[in-house]
Formats: sequence, structure tokens, C-alpha cells
Amino acid sequence: MSEFSQRLIAWQKQHGRHHLPWQVSDPYCIWLSEIMLQQTQVATVLDYYPRFIAAFPTVQDLASAEQDQVLQLWAGLGYYSRARNLHHAAQQIVQQFGGQFPTQRIELEKLKGVGRSTAAAIAAFAFRQPETILDGNVKRVLCRVFAKDGDPANKKFEQELWTHAETLLPDNHAEMPVYTQGLMDLGATICTRSQARCNICPMRDMCQAYAQNRVAELPRKKTAVAVKQQTLFWLIAQHENGSIWLEKRPQRGIWAGLYCVPTFATLADLNDYIGTHNGEELPTITHRLTHRLLEIIPYRVAFSGSLKHGKWVAPHDLADYGLPKPLNELLHNIK
Ligand code: ADE
Repeated sequence: MSEFSQRLIAWQKQHGRHHLPWQVSDPYCIWLSEIMLQQTQVATVLDYYPRFIAAFPTVQDLASAEQDQVLQLWAGLGYYSRARNLHHAAQQIVQQFGGQFPTQRIELEKLKGVGRSTAAAIAAFAFRQPETILDGNVKRVLCRVFAKDGDPANKKFEQELWTHAETLLPDNHAEMPVYTQGLMDLGATICTRSQARCNICPMRDMCQAYAQNRVAELPRKKTAVAVKQQTLFWLIAQHENGSIWLEKRPQRGIWAGLYCVPTFATLADLNDYIGTHNGEELPTITHRLTHRLLEIIPYRVAFSGSLKHGKWVAPHDLADYGLPKPLNELLHNIK
């Protein structure tokens, strides 16, 4: 068994995290937590995960839910394609897998939104399969401990990391959950991106980056993606009874499937839509998405008729709708 896995397992048992609510053997719970944790911090997931499990205790409950309810429970977590894929994958489990999660990593990868690393996490945690995860944290650990120097965006280099990670797996498959959690815990709590805690790291005396004084330099930085600036105009149509006009966003693009106020690329389009020029401009909101920096200019208009494809929602009913985070904050502030 590799020195790496022996040390990692011993360290995880003593110093790792043991009381996270998704540290169970139910593949449904593991899958849900892994999807939430893909782009969201543990502290935030600790808030959302229990509500989601309470609303949908089983994969069957999730499969038969309405998309709007799934998105409502996801609202604020961001990356909403995760929620849409999750809902779809629950239906795959029910329809294609007879309601049971497959145990093999290759089969798990057939689920919408489940890539190799997530499939490996489910296979390892729920079914003790000898499969390695390789998320950003694990890549960082491997690049440092084994002084792997390459561009993380390079497919060949990534393949080399997968292959290397597989050689490290413990021989005793009963240890797969502890080993896998150890990889996550080491990356999240010790071998962090900046200011790694090398003085308390179980790998220190075998870490090649440490020996070469290259911990700060490895892994190589990804080349930053360009962030595009985009301006949106929001029509905050407010009824004399206080209701706000909401419409469901299309299934593609920003905030797909969420409820939002009518959104326009120009103020002229907004004015044409509502048929007046008497909007009150509210303070501009800036909101960062992965590849976009949004500048949102809200216009409040008193209006009591009816608009297209949507509905009036009373202030106390807003919580029943999955809204983009900046809209939720705005509506909260103008109530
Ligand atoms: N990040 C991804 N998966 C995780 C898990 N199971 N526990 C803690 N952090 C994680």
C-alpha cells in the first residue's frame, strides 16, 4: 500500500472531518452533497443540504417534484444548471436504473451533471469502490506532494494526474471512504491554495514541493478566463396592492428556470414593453457570475394592469419562488 494512502488514512481518522451530515452510506445523500459542494463552500452547503433532504427525503421524491420547487430550494446557491441536472438525474435513476443508484463509477457517470470525480466520490463513499476523485483540491495536493509541474488545463497533464491518483488508492477497499474523505480534508484544511499549513501536514517529509521550496509555485495557475461586462435593465413593476410582476426565465442562459422580473438589454426595450417612460431608476447592482460581470439597472414602475407571460406575486409569497440572489436582495430592500 502506498506510503501516501497509509499516512492519509491515519491522519483522516485522527484529524479529519467526521461529523458532516452527508457522511452516511446512502448514495442519494452523497450524490446531493457532492453536487452542492462542487462550487459551493461547506459552510453554505450545511445550510442548504438539510432543507433539501427534508423536502426530498428520497430520490423518488426529487424525481416527482416540480422543477420550480427544486429551483426554489436551490435559490441563492448559484450555478442553477446543477439543480436542473439534479432533477433530471433523479428521473434517470427512477426511469433507467429502477430507482437504485448504480454502484459502478462508469454507470454513475451516465447521470446528468455527474462527471468522473463526482461519480468516483459516490462509488467510493457509498460502495467502497477503488476509484479516485480528482477535484481542484486533490489536484493541488498531488501537484505538491509529487512536484507535478504542468498546466492544469492541459488534457494530457490532467490524464497524468488521474493515472497517478489511481496508483495511490489503498489496497483495503473498506478504507475507501476514509481515504477519499482524507483527500478532501487535506486539500481543504491543510494543503490550501495560499498559506499551506506545512508544519502540521502528514505528508511534509515526503512532499517534493516542500523539499524543493515550491509549495507557493505549485500547482501552476490556470490562465484567467476573460470576464465580460454586461448591462441588464430590470422592470420592477409594482401593483398598487404591492405585488411584483414575475416571469419564469427561459431554460437556457443566465438564471435559467428561475423566476425574475422582466429583463431587457436596453432601457428603450423596457419602456416599450411597459408602454411608459415614468420609471424610477433604483441604485445599480453589480453581480459577478463565473464569466460575466453584470451591471443591473432596476426601474421601478407603478403599474396595475397585466403584462405578458407572468404573474403578480404578493410580497409575502415571494419566498415561494426561486429568485436570482440579487433580485431577492433588491425586493427585500424595497418592501
Ligand atoms: N467537498 C466535496 N465533497 C466533500 C465532502 N464529502 N466533504 C467535505 N467537503 C467536500
